[in-house]
Amino acid sequence: MDLNGIERLIAEMTLAEKLGQMTMSPAGSARTGPVRGEATTESVRAGGVGSLLNIWGREATDRFQKLAVEETRLGIPLFFGVDVLHGHRTVFPIPLAEAGAFDPGVWERTARQAAREAAADGADLTFAPMLDIARDPRWGRMAEGAGEDPLLAARFAAAKVRGFQGGDLASPGSLAATAKHFCCGGAALAGREYAAADLSERAVHETYLPPFRAAVEAGCAAIMSAFNSVGGVPMTAHVPLLRAWLREKLGFDGVIMSDYAAIEELIDHGVAADRAEAAALALKAGVDIDMVSNVYFSSMPEALARGLARMEDIDAAVRRILVLKLRLGLFDDPHRRTRRRRAPSDTAKKLALDAARRAITLLTNDGILPLGEKIRRIAVIGPLADAREEMVGPWVLAADPRQCSSILEGLRAALPDREIILEQGVTIKGDDMSGIGAARAACEHADLVILCVGEAARMSGEAASRAHPGLPGRQHELAEAVLSTGRPVIALLSSGRPLIVPVLAERARALVATWFLGAGAGEAIAEVLTGRFNPTARLPVTWPRAVGQIPIFFAERPAARPANPTDPFTSKYIDLPNEPLFPFGHGLSYSEIRLDNLRLGQEEFQAGDKVAVEVEARNLSDRTAQETIFLFARDRVAAAAPPVLELKGWAKVDLKPRQAKKVSFTLAAEELSGLDGALEWRLEPGDFDIFVGLNADRRYLLSARLRCR
Ligand code: GLC
Repeated sequence: MDLNGIERLIAEMTLAEKLGQMTMSPAGSARTGPVRGEATTESVRAGGVGSLLNIWGREATDRFQKLAVEETRLGIPLFFGVDVLHGHRTVFPIPLAEAGAFDPGVWERTARQAAREAAADGADLTFAPMLDIARDPRWGRMAEGAGEDPLLAARFAAAKVRGFQGGDLASPGSLAATAKHFCCGGAALAGREYAAADLSERAVHETYLPPFRAAVEAGCAAIMSAFNSVGGVPMTAHVPLLRAWLREKLGFDGVIMSDYAAIEELIDHGVAADRAEAAALALKAGVDIDMVSNVYFSSMPEALARGLARMEDIDAAVRRILVLKLRLGLFDDPHRRTRRRRAPSDTAKKLALDAARRAITLLTNDGILPLGEKIRRIAVIGPLADAREEMVGPWVLAADPRQCSSILEGLRAALPDREIILEQGVTIKGDDMSGIGAARAACEHADLVILCVGEAARMSGEAASRAHPGLPGRQHELAEAVLSTGRPVIALLSSGRPLIVPVLAERARALVATWFLGAGAGEAIAEVLTGRFNPTARLPVTWPRAVGQIPIFFAERPAARPANPTDPFTSKYIDLPNEPLFPFGHGLSYSEIRLDNLRLGQEEFQAGDKVAVEVEARNLSDRTAQETIFLFARDRVAAAAPPVLELKGWAKVDLKPRQAKKVSFTLAAEELSGLDGALEWRLEPGDFDIFVGLNADRRYLLSARLRCR
């Protein structure tokens, strides 16, 4: 089969067969949305389905594929889509945690391994990477993406597309990547799932689109439109962004699919009066595949009859779908992926451990960590202490959660010569506090308490918005009881988002964000707590002090009156500091790194220049360390109020004890462009501030002025 063959095929297809190719139906055991019709052998045999989702496993996928290829009139193969977000059989850290590694190599390697495992299970496409910029921890899907910053998310996007797709989409170990959810789901009103996002067009182009541009430039095969509306236009019907920007301006010629039942939900959005109108709106916007709602198959004929839709748009959609199947190698060998069996190998487990240790973020530490030799009796307290199955986080479909080591297991394996007592105290979500007494008693006889608290695996991810993103259930009472014993407490937070935990930040001797780390959880946590691994992760999101600060992020536009603690008439709260609990990029290690001598290669620049930026990093400790050094910039004056800080890059540097090194960045002039009034990226003459630092706290950044001629 080749492109000419595809044209011949389209010319032969009936309308029903074309609409069948544009239909993706659920067929497997995973439920990722409201129950709708399932794919049946009859619907597949009739050519009414072009792809299936939520199904994996060699036998199941081969059976449906055989049906499509041998028993339909034209024998067009199906493709199978699965949510492979952070692993398939081997579970890796949730994307938000992995983003904190600030390491595209890790991001690409885990995607590559996940692709190999999922492809061996019959998947041809993954509904990942998720690229929603998220600045509101009430929104549970913050867990699925790369955090708050467009540049971080863009680099994450490119690495994940490379990892999933590999060098050849037809390779049996490759999956087509689907960049999702296009776009702005993370700006849902009040962090409530599926709610409308009302944003300026400037914000959409400055903040939410760059990761999708990066995914397209990396060659992603597909894009999924988001559920929500933006500025009153549902993304699944958004002609300006899907057709004008994505297809025409960016030249994206891959497949656009709706999210789960999102075409039918155009009726709920109030922009379509019926299914025929919904079908027509989505087709007009350039959505090729109808995921689950079956609106295209059932109501597009009526839309055509009513003159709402055009056959040429249907043919264009079918063409893109068939080209995807051609690129996936499915016409040549529909079973190409399931022929090669792949069990999770040792390399997968090692990779999972490496990704896990690099995702652990040390938030506070008064020196109690790493654990010293004098610590002989350890009380491990809390509902997340011995909870293997909670260590996987959301969006784990095919994997066995029991593959994870629990925190307790990791500690016991790492500290065989210590007495380690376990008391759960409370459950994750329940109200029963009867176990707090025993937990308290265990603490009183211990040299140290390790308090393991946080969310259950499924308390983040889709349909998991929380109005009170703190410790669920009665864990706060447990924490108070443990802290009140006066014993030294190290608090470990399992979560899919920053939790509002000011008490722990204040009163625990150390606070560690362990997120959801997957297969390597317990072992990696023990490596960090014992000091066998010097923690390196940095926060990919700003961590709020209170819900009242949300949304909170470092790249905000200047206030009319910037905060000034001595002047009441400036931008601040009367009951809380403006500063977050922890800034973007925050993360401690067991070393202390100092930055000095920021130097720019030139004081003035013009379009096309590349400006050298250099800083000296010194390791003041006796431990080898890896530090992440951030490069920020601020345009002092621009056509539109420029953000007070923008991330322009980062560098990871390995430093031996007491070693100093020069760390260099290259800043291309174009990276300092801003959106002009016509929303075109343009470099404006004038002064910029260039900053370098260990996180986004502007009080501690080194800075230098740079003038654009
Ligand atoms: C869900 C999610 C999306 C997922 C899809 C298929 O509703 O929004 O992220 O890929 O359906 O499971």
